[in-house]
Amino acid sequence: MNRFDFLTGAVRKTWGEYRTYGVLLPAAVAAGAFFNVMPAMLLKEIVDQVASSRADMLWKLAFAYLGAVALIGLADFLREYGATVFGQRVLLNVRNGMLRKLTRLPVRYFNTTPKGETMARLTADIDAINSLFVSGVVAAAADLFKIAGFLAALFLLSPYFGMVALAGVPAVYALSDYFRKRIYQKQVVVRRRVAEINTRIQEIYTGLPMIKSYGAESYFAGGFEPVLENHRIAMNANSVYDAWFPCVTQTVRSIFIAGAVYIGARIGGMSPETGLSIGAISAAADLFIRLFEPIEAVASELLTIQQAMAGIDRAGEFFAHAEEKTERSSGGFRPSGASVEVRNLSFSYSAGQPVLDGLSLRVPQGAKAAIVGRTGSGKSTLLHLIAGMYGTESGGVLIGGVDPYRLAPQERRRWIGIVPQTVHIFNGNLLENITLRDTSIGRERVERALETTGLAEAVGTLPEGMETMLGEGGFSLSFGQTQLVALARALVTDPPLLLLDELTSGLDAVTESKLFAALRAIEGERTIVTISHRLSGILDADVVHIMERGKIRESGAPEELASKEGWYARYKRLEESGWRMA
Ligand SMILES: Nc1ncnc2c1ncn2[C@@H]1O[C@H](COP(=O)(O)OP(=O)(O)OP(=O)(O)O)[C@@H](O)[C@H]1O
Ligand SMILES: [Mg+2]
Repeated sequence: MNRFDFLTGAVRKTWGEYRTYGVLLPAAVAAGAFFNVMPAMLLKEIVDQVASSRADMLWKLAFAYLGAVALIGLADFLREYGATVFGQRVLLNVRNGMLRKLTRLPVRYFNTTPKGETMARLTADIDAINSLFVSGVVAAAADLFKIAGFLAALFLLSPYFGMVALAGVPAVYALSDYFRKRIYQKQVVVRRRVAEINTRIQEIYTGLPMIKSYGAESYFAGGFEPVLENHRIAMNANSVYDAWFPCVTQTVRSIFIAGAVYIGARIGGMSPETGLSIGAISAAADLFIRLFEPIEAVASELLTIQQAMAGIDRAGEFFAHAEEKTERSSGGFRPSGASVEVRNLSFSYSAGQPVLDGLSLRVPQGAKAAIVGRTGSGKSTLLHLIAGMYGTESGGVLIGGVDPYRLAPQERRRWIGIVPQTVHIFNGNLLENITLRDTSIGRERVERALETTGLAEAVGTLPEGMETMLGEGGFSLSFGQTQLVALARALVTDPPLLLLDELTSGLDAVTESKLFAALRAIEGERTIVTISHRLSGILDADVVHIMERGKIRESGAPEELASKEGWYARYKRLEESGWRMA
């Protein structure tokens, strides 16, 4: 796949919908170039008339001049408007594509890609597409046309003017290019410095409770100063070029204008034989002034195009990431039940560091299994693989005979309910946080889930009940309440397989036992896999699997394991003795 396919696709789609703008653009560009020459040509007539003391046409010429300036404005407006509307439409199509892509990326992508990188792809790099259209390609085309128009007009006035202008074009371009490039380099540094400031502020903002509780204010404030100083230095370096640029180009421009006037006066001067009138010289001066503007602009537009292409290339990289392999459930790809079968499963997040190592496990339909093991033994990883969040490398996971990773997302939610160890609350109200905006889930099912989790009472006291906003800036839930919301989120689709990772780690003993009672009441034929650090957190498990370094070390019914001298028995004794090590 080509890196730019996503862009050409979006442009083609936009072209289909907004053809009028596509046609309008070249027309506005060509007309703009033509109108831009008119004021200078009219100026020639006006000056010549005044010089020869004829004033009969002056009013008409004045109006024509006004008309020409108005037409230039109109052409500029149409060009800018057309390019923006077209560019923004392309942008919208690309953004939609990106969001779709984002939801199709495997969980592994999010584990291995820094958040900031994806954010940059989705914002700054995509904005580059807009600049490519509005201030890049379209503006550059308009300016090139203008340059051609001015050159033609100068040649028309006198070949000498044309020659001077032709010599001036590369000189002015080279000068502008030199300054633009340097200004750009300095701006990159400034932007980096601004990003550093932002990171600092964010760090202080999120870590403020910690900073205050440790009395570390001065430490953080001290760290801020060098960052601010670096920013000041970068800004100064940028301003030097920024301030010099207009002075130098103004001077060069004036040298050319002076040269043109001199040549005009020397060659033709006022002598009528050579035909260079005073009006022609005024027009030439005017054209020279106008000519240099688009040349300077082209230098910066080419730079914009270059930057935009780099941004688009990076966005293309994002689009090239492999998507999750899901199969259409309509094709009969549907689990036959809620049994779990893990066969000889190995898995690693980074190469050479296996987290799961040839692990096998069977949980028959309707069984309650518990997985216990030391911190870092790979329990959560195993649960995520059972939930189909990652594709497996060797060995496999089957839910009712089907690989959960290949289930379509909606299908997966219907079959598997998971409460992960770290729960994320989205920006939205409580209802949305439970349904995840799945409109097929009715309100009464949410209410039932809240009832089961014991949250219903707490929801009643919320300012706006289920419509209370959660997430950033919204109502803050306690850690235990967050876990219960996640449980409600899992239960609301009534899935036959329930995966619970440290569900009760944030709950007090009373809430925990109430929750277990409620879960028992709705269990029925449900298959449940629980992970817990504490043996008391295991929900009536039929079988306990002891996990150690990516493998199942021991399995058996709790009583069976307790009576056998082994990990479970030791662990149980330890817990009952209140974690006091002998
Ligand atoms: N997203 C991830 N990316 C890379 N490595 C990970 C990731 N998640 C876990 N690991 C690594 O995998 C190993 C097992 O982690 P896992 O979370 O599965 O352990 P756990 O048994 O659930 O531990 P705990 O009891 O603390 O929850 C750890 O060494 C951890 O560093
Ligand atoms: Mg874990």
